[in-house]
Amino acid sequence: MHVLVTGGAGFIGSHTVVALLERGHQVTIVDDFENSSPRVIDRIEQVTGIRPGFVEIDLLDEPGFRAAFGSIAPDAVTHFAGLKAVGESVADPLRYYAHNLGTTFSLLNAMKAHDTKALVFSSSATVYGHEQQPPYVEDAAALTATSPYGMSKVMLERILTDVADAEPGWHIALLRYFNPVGAHESGLIGEAPLGAPDNLAPYIVQVALGRRPHVRVFGDDYPTKDGTGERDYIHVVDLAAGHVAALEKLADVTGARAWNLGTGRGTSVTQLLAAFEAATGRAIPAVVAPRRSGDVPRSWADTTRAEAELGWSPTRGVAEMARDAWRWQQQNPNGYAADDCVS
Ligand code: WQD
Repeated sequence: MHVLVTGGAGFIGSHTVVALLERGHQVTIVDDFENSSPRVIDRIEQVTGIRPGFVEIDLLDEPGFRAAFGSIAPDAVTHFAGLKAVGESVADPLRYYAHNLGTTFSLLNAMKAHDTKALVFSSSATVYGHEQQPPYVEDAAALTATSPYGMSKVMLERILTDVADAEPGWHIALLRYFNPVGAHESGLIGEAPLGAPDNLAPYIVQVALGRRPHVRVFGDDYPTKDGTGERDYIHVVDLAAGHVAALEKLADVTGARAWNLGTGRGTSVTQLLAAFEAATGRAIPAVVAPRRSGDVPRSWADTTRAEAELGWSPTRGVAEMARDAWRWQQQNPNGYAADDCVS
């Protein structure tokens, strides 16, 4: 099928585009490069031998996007475009709500105008908030979140569910990602955060590169296996495969339905540091720092529904995530900034 991928030049988006192309689907990327680089398109072609279609446009330009949508005429959409830095969202909530909701409204209006009602939406494990304990089950309790970023996902899941309930013919997959880490085995595409990384894995990699002096461990007194925060890290290639599985099952989805995309296993900060020391062969200095506000002690997925209904389960462990993240970073010390890929 022909899939329009918003934010397809981003970290998870680019890996999903590769997976879709390798499955024989046609892909058109829509991206404004606010958080990504045009070079990703070239790298996707290098990895797959296929150059995806591409339109550079801001989804907030609703008339322009609707016209572009009509010319692309996709069968389905995966919607990655959005702001996703938790700390930044706390500092600037209006920007996060306006952007994440506004881009989704623009997309939905274009889809309705062209009677395209198959959508895979990027949601997040942050919708589970503090009230629940892991393993998180999709419909166990009302959703809440501890940041404007997370709340934008809670709101959008509700909006998409209401739209699907109001009109027949919608098929919407709400995919709740846990913590994506790693890179494609080619080392040609990967995570390229702009500025200091908020997330742990890219920060560890920059310390391993010698770009930063040490990792700050945000708290070592949590009620966890070793006192540090536990998360469900999932290889980005497994995550991309989860999107393909959801897209290929969309026709069977009536309305909107959520699935966790995680491994079901909790890994602590200390354990992730050890995995990167093993993968890089380098000591990675770390110092204990105060807890970060908004952090939950533990988070991991119940994977039952995704395995049973999507026929999907992740295959890669933390060692492979660290190995593949390191290869990407070594081959691209400046991310996509300068095309100095050293093979
Ligand atoms: C992981 C663990 C930290 C940085 C967020 C979003 C989520 C998704 C992934 C978008 C925690 C600890 C972190 C550091 C540390 N993003 N940590 N030192 O917060 O679980 O999830 O990113 O979809 O939606 O909420 O990821 O990598 O920031 O933190 O000790 O420098 O590492 O306390 O225990 P998080 P993270």
